[in-house]
Formats: sequence, structure tokens, C-alpha cells
Amino acid sequence: MAKPPLSMKPTGWFQVAWSDEIGAGDVHTMKYFDQEMVAWRAESGALTVMNAYCEHLGAHLGFGGKVVGEVLQCPFHGWQWSQQGRNVCIPYQDRPNRGRRIRTYPVVERNESIYIWHDVEGREPYFDAPDIFAGFNDGSSADDYYPQQRLFRAGLELHPQYVLENGVDFAHFKYVHATPIVPVFTRHDFAEPVSFVDFTITFEGDDNQKIEDIDSRVEAINGGLGIAVTKSYGMVDNRTISAITPVDDSTSDVRFMVYIGRKPSKDPQRAEAKAREFGQEVIRQFEQDIHIWSHQRYSDPPALAPDEYEGFTAIRNWAKQFYAAPQKG
Ligand code: FES
Ligand SMILES: [Fe+2]
Repeated sequence: MAKPPLSMKPTGWFQVAWSDEIGAGDVHTMKYFDQEMVAWRAESGALTVMNAYCEHLGAHLGFGGKVVGEVLQCPFHGWQWSQQGRNVCIPYQDRPNRGRRIRTYPVVERNESIYIWHDVEGREPYFDAPDIFAGFNDGSSADDYYPQQRLFRAGLELHPQYVLENGVDFAHFKYVHATPIVPVFTRHDFAEPVSFVDFTITFEGDDNQKIEDIDSRVEAINGGLGIAVTKSYGMVDNRTISAITPVDDSTSDVRFMVYIGRKPSKDPQRAEAKAREFGQEVIRQFEQDIHIWSHQRYSDPPALAPDEYEGFTAIRNWAKQFYAAPQKG
């Protein structure tokens, strides 16, 4: 893939791991936004994500760094760094180096994910990462769903914006996902950094059905470019999270999570097995999209059909706010 014409350093919340990958005392190494980073969990459970290099002589804290209580200790000379990235101890001096600081990232743990706030200008978060349950204001919680099912694909050549544009791309459902009829959008709200798209869609029946007769809806909340959560209800009951995080100038990690709704059942084991199957089917559909995205070249300006103009223009204008420099095109 050619390098996308869109910046791979957009502002917003982005998933960097799952919470259960980093236990108390663990130091986890990763690279996002072209930065080597570590995520480490203190004994108290507090999670810190910071740049990986020690400000002393540059050791990588992910290779031998050790959690000591509430701080991270460098493997090279034992300097200790706080959850704010401050040096709090030089073991062979009577005071720490108060001036130096390792860059830390605002972090939230939500829906079993670890999200960091990334902003090239270092601004504090100015919108919230969407919650797959609370975000829909319907009183739901994880207890109403079977355990989360996951997909992880590392280092794909795609940009997060491709994935979000899928949400207004009514025409692809029939071709990529084999829906019998084209879905109809009932809401496009791109006024704020957190945007909303609702539509009516079915995966069943033939192409003679009328969309007005279909009771199968999807509501999507896009928290910036990095995270989208969806709620499907009516004929099906599931929720999904897609989270796309740039690794470097041309690749992203893709994470996708599915929750299938619990139903009362005489045979809970069978019901759970069925839910697993449904979940795998939803993941399979997402992989159909990944197959397209990971070979796509961003088209700008695109050749749009008249009916596509409104949705794509709205989402592309909305997306511009997450890039520091004006996008060309
Ligand atoms: S390089 Fe980290 S303590 Fe020296
Ligand atoms: Fe899709």
C-alpha cells in the first residue's frame, strides 16, 4: 500500500491492549504512533502507559523494567519512575531528578479494553471514549451479554478512517456482507467529536422485502477515529467494538469485539455455544471488510454516486478535526 494521504497521527482515544493482558506487576511493551511505549500495572492495579525510554541514559523500560509497588524501576541503574512519569528515586543519590519526565498518556480502561488518548500537540482529552453499554443509555450492562469475543489483527496496511467510513457506506453491505437489500440510514449526526449513525438493516430474507417492514436496527457511536461501538437490536441482539490504532506511518492494529445478548434458555450450555457461533459469524463479517480495507487506496476526492454524497461528505468533514495539519485534497 502507498502511504495513506491521511495522517497516521490523529487525535483521540485508541486501544493499545486488553485489560486482562496486563496484570498487576506486568510491564507490557508496544509500539503505537511510531513511539515505543510501555504499559505497566502497579500493585494497586493502577495502569500507566508511557514512552518506553528511560530519561537517564535511555534504557528501554520494557526490557527488564520492574514494577516496584507503585513505581516502575529501570533495569539499567535502578532509577524509579512514577505513574506521572516523574523520577522519584535515584538509588545512589539523596534526591531524585525532579526536572525530567517521561511522557505519559491519559488512559482509561473500559469494556475490557485499554484506551490511550493521543494528541500530537499534547492537549488533554476533550471528549470521552464511548462505552458500549452506558453509551446507549438503555440500562444495559455486560451481564446482559455472553462473554466478549475478540479478533486481533496486527500491522495491517489500513487507516482508521477507512473503517469509520464503512458506517455511512450503505452500498457495500450488499456486496461485501451479502445483505439482501440496501440498508437505510435513519440518523447521521456529525456535530461533535463523538458522532452517531443509525440504520435499518437485515441479513435475512430475499430482495423483495421492504425496508419499512424490517425490525432490525443498528446504532453506532464513533468516539473519534479510533473507536466505534454498535448496538444491533430487533431481529438480532449484539454489540460490537471496533478499535483501530496506528502503529507507524502505514500500518494499524485492528481489534474487534463482539457481545451476543443473553436469552432465557432451558439449555444454557447450548445457548452459550450458539452465542459463540453467532459471535464468530459477526467476526467473519468484519473480516470481510478487513479484506477490502487492507488493500484499499484512499480515494480523494472519491467518485461518489449522488445518494452517497451526503454521508461521505459529512463523515469526511467530521474526520478533519482529528488531524493537526490540514489534510490535502
Ligand atoms: S538508563 Fe534508566 S536508570 Fe539509567
Ligand atoms: Fe462492513
